[in-house]
Amino acid sequence: MSAQGSTVQTFFIHFLAILLLLAGAGAVRADVTPERQHQLIHLLRHDCGSCHGMTLKGGLGPPLLSENLIDKSPDVLENIIYLGLPERAMPPWEGLLTRAEIRWLVERLQKGDIP
Ligand code: HEC
Repeated sequence: MSAQGSTVQTFFIHFLAILLLLAGAGAVRADVTPERQHQLIHLLRHDCGSCHGMTLKGGLGPPLLSENLIDKSPDVLENIIYLGLPERAMPPWEGLLTRAEIRWLVERLQKGDIP
């Protein structure tokens, strides 16, 4: 039992370690600090707001109010913001914002939870 048992044990310990690592990486990725949240809301009002309106009711770009976004896929919205819509005046934010930050903004916009 011992040789085979310890192989199984070693395998299991590695498996657990990898699971923990993955869980840890996920937590780091999803973590948008309160300070960063504050900056993101500022960016939303000022940079995004220059096209979508300071109050997000639309301008050159469409309104970004909850009622306009709630039925759309968060993955699609995340990609639009990350990659932009070339030829349609929506710039890409890749390089300035991480996907986790964009996801946080999308969730806030869909809920209409913008302070
Ligand atoms: C230079 C002007 C401009 C800026 C700046 C801009 N957008 Fe846009 N955005 C647009 C336009 C125009 C569209 C519509 C493109 C189309 O579908 O024709 C759009 C589309 C979108 C959509 C899709 C809306 C929908 O109903 O499908 C989202 C979400 C969005 N923008 C979010 C943002 C966010 C968040 C920012 C800031 C990080 C931002 N935009 C900055 C012009 C802009």
